[in-house]
Amino acid sequence: MRQARAAGQTIGIVPTMGSLHEGHLSLVRRARRETDRVVVSIFVNPLQFAPGEDFGSYPRSIRRDAKLLREAETDVLFLPTEERLYPSGFSTRIEVDELDEVLCGRSRPGHFRGVCTIVMKLLQASLPDRLYLGQKDYQQATILRRMVRDLDVPVRTVVCPIVRERDGLAMSSRNVYLSEEERNWAPALQAALADAKRRILAGDWSSPGAVTRSVKSRLRSGPGNTEYVELLHADTLQPVRVLEGELVLALAHRLGGARLIDNVLIRVPRERKGNSERKVKR
Ligand code: PAJ
Repeated sequence: MRQARAAGQTIGIVPTMGSLHEGHLSLVRRARRETDRVVVSIFVNPLQFAPGEDFGSYPRSIRRDAKLLREAETDVLFLPTEERLYPSGFSTRIEVDELDEVLCGRSRPGHFRGVCTIVMKLLQASLPDRLYLGQKDYQQATILRRMVRDLDVPVRTVVCPIVRERDGLAMSSRNVYLSEEERNWAPALQAALADAKRRILAGDWSSPGAVTRSVKSRLRSGPGNTEYVELLHADTLQPVRVLEGELVLALAHRLGGARLIDNVLIRVPRERKGNSERKVKR
């Protein structure tokens, strides 16, 4: 990588945990278009799994992944071992405050610390110009962007759109945990988010609480358990008091053996809110 840089080539990295699908490959293709050297890492990072989570059973398919990456013209597949990344005595962690206290951070303490630590190590190993992440893991992308900024890491973070199955379910390596019945219902999550977005933009709701209550009650009629539905500022991940500006509506839902997450970005023009206020006054 140092030689590539010295020769004036740009480097893009796509960090993954493998079991690749079109979502991952969309990041690889974007990196292929935008940088000279594409590095993809596959490492199921023990540091970001809590005891009792699916570290042991996380789907692994290295041969298939390697083939897909070759087809996508990846230059380097980085497959580090646990001993190489975390030799005995490894004791450093990277933590981004506050942004990790909402959404998935609440139910997965230490998760984002593990993510930040591994991604920083992968950046050090590959010296990239661009770091490619998916909007699918919106909080992760937000936290990593902040880490890169706060620690002056000379890399540009590129966040790519969510790739979905035909029926709307966000692609995820964990979708294989779903039974047929659960899989058939799962697109309801995306449908609830898309519907809420439409209704927010139509001015149907007066408060963020009304939005999240409505999405939750819609999901309650289906299988599984909703862990959270939150409407937050897209950059700060702080709760919003009024429905305006750049927002993210995000949810996590436990369905059978899977914990599914999804989100939608919503830009509510400020003047539209003014209009609806005037309407209310009249
Ligand atoms: P993993 O879940 O394998 O995801 C790797 C990257 O692919 C992440 O940036 C994720 O947001 C993106 N991605 C996953 N599904 C996607 C979809 N349907 N559409 C678009 N992008 C998608 O996220 C991780 O691994 C790990 O936490 C990691 C960053 C590699 C650190 O261990």
